[in-house]
Amino acid sequence: MTASFDFSGKNVFVVGGTSGINLGIAKAFAAAGARMGVASRKQDKVDAAVAELGEGALGYSFDVRNFDDIAAAFADFEEKAGKIDVVVSGAAGNFPALAKDISSNGFKAVIDIDLLGTFHVMKAAMGHMVQPGGSLINISAPQAVQAMPFQVHVCAAKAGVDMITKCLAIEWGPLGLRVNSVIPGPIDGTEGMDRLAPTEAMRKAVVKTVPMGRMGDPEDVALACMYLGSDAARYVSGTILNADGGWAIAGARIDLALG
Ligand code: COA
Ligand code: NAP
Repeated sequence: MTASFDFSGKNVFVVGGTSGINLGIAKAFAAAGARMGVASRKQDKVDAAVAELGEGALGYSFDVRNFDDIAAAFADFEEKAGKIDVVVSGAAGNFPALAKDISSNGFKAVIDIDLLGTFHVMKAAMGHMVQPGGSLINISAPQAVQAMPFQVHVCAAKAGVDMITKCLAIEWGPLGLRVNSVIPGPIDGTEGMDRLAPTEAMRKAVVKTVPMGRMGDPEDVALACMYLGSDAARYVSGTILNADGGWAIAGARIDLALG
């Protein structure tokens, strides 16, 4: 970690924080001193993440499609650890498929996890945040702004995620809450990249589209989240922050990667 942040005495909850980018975000906040909460569907992943995050970390198993379970987890976290300073909402599902091959239920599955799930997490977290001062961060994706083949469901969902960010920044600004999105670029060794670019040839084609000439790692995204969660971003709300090595401005030629 090249930049340093101090989150000692702070509570940070990462939804979907049990693997990939989100686990990297949780580990970075933990290393900076935060007391952590993490959640996802699979209990074994939750247990492993809690063990990795160290003393005081709390884990919850829920599906972001179920509002009541999320609300119960945040209530329990507040009872045990106190109000939440930073919440990161990063649970998502994706599979590459042409629109003609996606059933209503397939489209709905991604909308329910990525879009409705984000709304659920934001709404459930709000009353448990430090007010004023809390920071809510949604993990979006390049699909929010860049149309892509094989990604109609995710493009629709993540565009909605960024609108949730902006609308809540307006509604909750007066409460002293900041709401922002982070858009990771292609992040190496993650489930998302493995699904979208499963071969070495595809990975090389993706790297060619990144101005900085490399894929990112979870820590690159974690640093953006720690900035948004810190006082350094105390007047930053409703923004969509790319942590993508310049990928978005290069034209996002993911079609090359898909061959
Ligand atoms: N192509 C087309 N349709 C697909 C598909 C694919 N590759 N994979 C799943 N679907 C469809 C299923 O066929 C089903 O539709 P149907 O009932 O009409 O047959 C629908 O999606 C739901 O599938 P199901 O497996 O029941 O959903 P789930 O809620 O258990 O899982 C997913 C959700 C599909 C998004 C699953 O991939 C997941 O849980 N992903 C999490 C991890 C992930 O995607 N990480 C990357 C984050 S960017
Ligand atoms: P990942 O490892 O699959 O992470 C997804 C996490 O969400 C897992 O912890 C998963 O755990 C959890 N999850 C999935 N569905 C859930 C549900 N219904 N309810 C609760 N938790 C659920 O994927 P990743 O590639 O690191 O992606 C993480 C985030 O970054 C996503 O929001 C993705 O859109 C975004 N992103 C990724 C990339 C990339 O290059 N990978 C690029 C841009 C944006 P369980 O299986 O236990 O539920």
